[in-house]
Amino acid sequence: MNTTNLHNDLLIKAAFSEPTPRPPVWMMRQAGRFMPQYWEIKNKYSFLEMCKTPEIAADVTMLPVDLLDIDAAILFSDILVTAEAMGGDLSFTQGVGPKFANPVRSQQDINCLNTDVSNKLDYVADAIKVVQERLNKRIPLIGFAGAPFTVMSYLVEGGSSKDFKLTKLMLHNHPEMAHQLLSKIAAVTVTYLNMQIAAGVNAVQLFDSWALALSWDDYKEFSHRYNVEIISKLNRKDIPVISFCKGSSVFAPLMAEAKPDVVSVDWNADLLDIKSELPKNIAVQGNLDPHILYADKPVIKKYIHKLFERMRNQNGFIFNLGHGIMPDIPFENVKYAIDVVKAFTY
Ligand code: CP3
Repeated sequence: MNTTNLHNDLLIKAAFSEPTPRPPVWMMRQAGRFMPQYWEIKNKYSFLEMCKTPEIAADVTMLPVDLLDIDAAILFSDILVTAEAMGGDLSFTQGVGPKFANPVRSQQDINCLNTDVSNKLDYVADAIKVVQERLNKRIPLIGFAGAPFTVMSYLVEGGSSKDFKLTKLMLHNHPEMAHQLLSKIAAVTVTYLNMQIAAGVNAVQLFDSWALALSWDDYKEFSHRYNVEIISKLNRKDIPVISFCKGSSVFAPLMAEAKPDVVSVDWNADLLDIKSELPKNIAVQGNLDPHILYADKPVIKKYIHKLFERMRNQNGFIFNLGHGIMPDIPFENVKYAIDVVKAFTY
């Protein structure tokens, strides 16, 4: 996919820190439960069926493109599909979230995980091709994967966690086991992201959602080091790499050392302050508190304009939330926020 042929390449330009007439906008979890149209599909299929059926994954990917007129699509999938392909017995239950029936807690569990997963994830490459046909070069398509630490946390805990107790116990009591597990996930992630690039995505985002649970030293040893490895092995060419982590207000300078094109920032930090700390050629993405989208429309507009005034005249700024849209945020507020961004000119 040649990104120079895109009709709207605002996201690609901003990601490479080139000037844009206004910041591009997309939102994490834009293809999801806050949309009534998502439920019409979700009520018919399980979440994994949706991910694994290219036509359905493409239908959901296209919902925000058609209904919200955003500047980038993100493939409908999940960060845990890599863990499933490695042998995780994954299910998603409404109201419970992801569960692995066979959590990875011993050396033997780690030995059992496959790293040759390429054809187990073919459905993702197929979905990318269907989406790109439907997008017909209108806007870029973002592919993604979970970063090793975040994916490891789900495998070890067996699902979502508040304190990551078992994961941290493995890091601290059995660091050599943790490194084996992280290395296996990292190898799969490199193959997986390169497969997405070969299938035609125009940008990739690495999600290290839960790295904020780690201390500075543990972040360096158990998260950052694998993200550096992954980013260095991507067939990037004209494909920008976005690095996301909740905790980026602390870890941003380290995240930049991994040499992504963009660091995606949570809402605890002042976006311009973070940008000023980073090398000039690294763009930032963020960083509206998603809770603002529950508020009244004049409040939404005020917060977005405040962020834009702060970022005025900065190349390399992609508007996004600091984390994903919550399922009960009113659709019309999301639509309104996007319209506010699109009406803005520098
Ligand atoms: O952003 C998008 O719209 C693209 C699709 C996407 C999903 N998950 C769809 C999804 C993306 C990029 C993800 C990434 C993901 N998945 C992350 C990283 C981003 C983040 O939120 O930090 C994580 C940690 C996961 C793991 C995951 N998947 C959890 C914890 C859950 C359940 C909890 C929740 O948020 O509801 C999921 C399920 C999931 N992934 C849903 C969707 C639309 C809900 C499925 C449903 O309809 O029941």
